[in-house]
Amino acid sequence: MDRIVDLIRSKRDGEELSFEDYERLISAYARGEVTEYQMAALLMAGCCTEFTDNEATALTSAMLKCGERLDLSAIERPKVDKHSTGGVGDKVSLIAGPIAAAAGIVVPMVSGRGLGHTGGTLDKLESIPGLRTTITPVQFQQQAAEHGLVYAAQSNEIAPVDKKLYALRNATATVDSLALIASSIMSKKLAEGLNGLVLDVKVGRGSLIPGRREARRLAQLMISIGRRMDVSVQALLTDMNEPLGFTIGNALEVMEAAQALQNQGPPDLVGLSIEVAARMIYLGESNRSIESARDQAQELLTDGSALAKFTAVIAAQGGDAEVLTDFQRLPNATGEQIITSPRTGFISRINADDIGQAASMLGAGRDSMDDDIDHAVGVVLQCKVGDQVAEGSRLCALYYTDETNVQEAVQLVEDAFRLSASQPEPRELALDLVQ
Ligand code: URA
Repeated sequence: MDRIVDLIRSKRDGEELSFEDYERLISAYARGEVTEYQMAALLMAGCCTEFTDNEATALTSAMLKCGERLDLSAIERPKVDKHSTGGVGDKVSLIAGPIAAAAGIVVPMVSGRGLGHTGGTLDKLESIPGLRTTITPVQFQQQAAEHGLVYAAQSNEIAPVDKKLYALRNATATVDSLALIASSIMSKKLAEGLNGLVLDVKVGRGSLIPGRREARRLAQLMISIGRRMDVSVQALLTDMNEPLGFTIGNALEVMEAAQALQNQGPPDLVGLSIEVAARMIYLGESNRSIESARDQAQELLTDGSALAKFTAVIAAQGGDAEVLTDFQRLPNATGEQIITSPRTGFISRINADDIGQAASMLGAGRDSMDDDIDHAVGVVLQCKVGDQVAEGSRLCALYYTDETNVQEAVQLVEDAFRLSASQPEPRELALDLVQ
């Protein structure tokens, strides 16, 4: 291999590095033979001059090769997962996963922890007392065979380089390169040994990718990486200008997911969860139409099968499944601050980014991987865009356990709302399908 400094220079000058370069570079980095500052320089060079699509695939493949892959081949059922690029109030994994598993799909959901706004799926689930997300390979196999759904933390063995690289990217302003995002997500997901993957690529203020064109590019890139590795991938582009559902914050989101599984969820969250689950079923069963998959997903939600599946999975992972019907068993905040409407009108905007930042400031999210999060805190909206509100009526409530940042969070939340005299046009949540 060229010396690392030569690779950095080539990348700085806009050259495309080869598959072989990435394989050697990434394995040397995994062994600690490439320093963090050299890797940071290479990432920044790539961000400034752009990584090509071939390089994104090469990086994914190199990261995959450095880690272990799940082998679920003994389970003769389709394996399909979903992944969201991360949104505010996004608890779809807690609803779509159980629906797809209730349909007979095996969903091996391995996730990393969330950075930014609010926690990731693991953080949300860990607000359930007792629930374990560190799962041994043997337990993983058993639970996947028995329940068809496992929520597991990314171990040090699966895509170990991504863990290191993600922390480095977070500290060096190199998170938002499409090629780096695509290879990071796909190296983790392809290690699950999947047949299919449904991506929910968020677009708008509360997402990693604010613009639709870039989101579409990211979706296409991940689909092409999947195709080159024999995994069918479909991507939904979905709006993330307004938070999804009413709750933002870890335990609050578990509560809302439980309500949705009991047929009392908000329409935007339920609609998207059904669509994601339907696409998981569709990708898993090649002779199905998407319409019949959608009908089945709806049926499994309505008849309580998905709730029964989620309950069994929580119990299998040591969690207190009674939280799903008795929300007092979840971590509770100690303080509440209510935000009211300054005047009568229609809600024309609830800026997801501001609400996410406010929740994070209260302790629901983390800025670096070492930060602790507070599962109890967050924001609960009382209205959605398009609703009419009267002066003095409740817009939302902030829940906290520590008063330190409350005033700053209140300011952000107040600024997140916009009112208009006339009702805004209804927004589309699912913007596009890329396949
Ligand atoms: N999610 C990931 O897993 N990786 C990224 O780089 C961005 C979002």
